[in-house]
Amino acid sequence: MARERSRVLDELIDAHAAREPARFRMLTGDRPTGPLHIGHHLASLRNRVRLQDKGAETFVVIADYQVVTDRDAVGAIGDNVHGLVVDYLAAGIDPTRTTIFTHSAVPALNQLMLPFLSLVTDAELRRNPTVKDELALSGGRPLSGLLLTYPVHQAADILFCHSRVVPVGRDQLPHLELTRAIARRFNQRYAGGEGVFAEPEALLGEVPLLLGTDGTKMSKSRGNVVNLRDTADETAARIRAAVTDGERRITFEPERRPAVANLLTIAGLFLDEPPAVLAERVGDGGARALKELVTEAVNESLADHRRRRADLARDPAYVTSVLHEGNARAAAVADRTLATVRAVMGMSY
Ligand code: TRP
Repeated sequence: MARERSRVLDELIDAHAAREPARFRMLTGDRPTGPLHIGHHLASLRNRVRLQDKGAETFVVIADYQVVTDRDAVGAIGDNVHGLVVDYLAAGIDPTRTTIFTHSAVPALNQLMLPFLSLVTDAELRRNPTVKDELALSGGRPLSGLLLTYPVHQAADILFCHSRVVPVGRDQLPHLELTRAIARRFNQRYAGGEGVFAEPEALLGEVPLLLGTDGTKMSKSRGNVVNLRDTADETAARIRAAVTDGERRITFEPERRPAVANLLTIAGLFLDEPPAVLAERVGDGGARALKELVTEAVNESLADHRRRRADLARDPAYVTSVLHEGNARAAAVADRTLATVRAVMGMSY
């Protein structure tokens, strides 16, 4: 159902976003825990640029407070934040049309969490499947108050700017449902039924789940990824070392040959060709020819991105100014929303 709704939403954006940008205001975000990889590029960066270019108003949150949901220290957070901004700009996100900001620089967004927390129950928070998964993966850590409540904070990310469209992966759907409930309950309980917050919609990506080069889930913590900042040679080495299987002839059979199918899928997404067609083309060339195809597809598709990345690396002051500008814009929007919230709650004294 979520997929069908996303398809309809995508058509509406095509038809109307240019004339009614606020109706499709969009917000997405990333946790600054490390460099972005090709999975992010295929599944989210390309899509953000596509929606931005259709005319939808866009916001991107660098979710710095979410870093400490499942770990004890922030790590190299300053470098990670800077690296994200660089990748956004290199991918084609235009800072004059898209507001890029961090949680920690937008106080009024964070303050929205207080009234929002009053609208959810402990039981509701505890059954969130994404929170449960993250807790299970956090290496025996006890459940922190932030991990338990971060979906409410994420609702503040989405609602502070009244965003209507949230491009996300499947794992984020529970957070979106909670956000919708918070919007609804806020209107009912505190605003006498007035529509202060609209309920946002998820826009699910079309990209299938990608595996890393070791055949398990693609993830920066497993070291099985090609990062956007890697060089062409590093990319070639990483792909050469990818696991495949013992069969010579290349075929696209995701169930029976997941590792081979995954490489074909990655090449297919970069080349915009069906993986089965690429499998035919490689045929008896075997794993070696397949890997050459993938390497070339990745390196050619990312050549411009990497060139822009290198240019931006020479101008760190510009990158910082983009973030400062985005933070100021987001703070102005959040201040207005918080003023409305305080007014409807009878708290403007
Ligand atoms: N939780 C998201 C992730 O881990 C990042 C995120 C933070 C986000 N705030 C958001 C995504 C708001 C969509 C909307 O990837």
